Amino acid sequence: MQLLDGKLVSQAVKNSLKEKIAQLKATGSKTPHLAAILVGSNGASETYVASKVKNCEEIGFKSTLIRLDEAVSEKELMDTIEQLNKDADVDGILVQLPLPKQINEDKIISLINPKKDVDGFHPMSVGKMVQGLPTFIPATPYGIMLMLEHYKIETKGKHAVVIGRSNIVGRPISILLSRNTNPGNCTVTVCHSHTHNLKEICLQADIIVAALGRPGFLTADMVKENVVVIDVGITRVPDASKKSGFSIKGDVDFENVAPKCSYITPVPGGVGLMTIGALLMNTYNACVGE
Ligand code: GUN
Repeated sequence: MQLLDGKLVSQAVKNSLKEKIAQLKATGSKTPHLAAILVGSNGASETYVASKVKNCEEIGFKSTLIRLDEAVSEKELMDTIEQLNKDADVDGILVQLPLPKQINEDKIISLINPKKDVDGFHPMSVGKMVQGLPTFIPATPYGIMLMLEHYKIETKGKHAVVIGRSNIVGRPISILLSRNTNPGNCTVTVCHSHTHNLKEICLQADIIVAALGRPGFLTADMVKENVVVIDVGITRVPDASKKSGFSIKGDVDFENVAPKCSYITPVPGGVGLMTIGALLMNTYNACVGE
């Protein structure tokens, strides 16, 4: 069993971006600039956005964090996005999800200028991704693809089972894995809360992407020997032994599943870190217009 090390691969991504930034600076070109909008004070969202901003600064990107009150109106959030759309210095716009219930997420996502849609959630970006055209790929699925590529994991012809069909992870990774690319060329089964015989389906999988947000859901009896397991779960569970009062748990019962795997991502230290690396790549590309 080999661990897929998100720290190592994301650091490699960041190092290559640092070099590119040095080149941009040497030629007097513009520095990539990410604007992140955080609405309210959801603990997990706070942590993720803080990490995104910190990583931008670490590699020499500009970043702006815009905090809006939990009770912000849809109109006010839309005005903020329109300002960022117009601001020539801002290359990438990220609205951290979920949003409070008075706000229509689809409307907000659709308002972001597709050229600045570094989350890849805009319908234009999703449409292009489905068609295999160059575009922004949502950060978590993109991070998973970078990880598979880094470890040269053979995906062609393999049966990939994706558990979860969210717009953020499950749906896009199912599309990416089925595309005629490398990594890709998988036969993909997308499972969700209405799937019958999930265990039998998982037992047929060469690759499993667990992205349903239920800690420890994928157990050893659900996987065959030598499976590749990608754990996207990052649920906070109470843990009195931690200063924060919680620990982060993945969707996989790691202790019992790992011995059966050829490769597996740990939580923390796996996919989560890759998400940041992928977001930084998207922001760089938004800046240089690739
Ligand atoms: N919430 C959970 N994951 C993400 C993400 O990748 N981007 C944004 N904007 N919000 C999220």
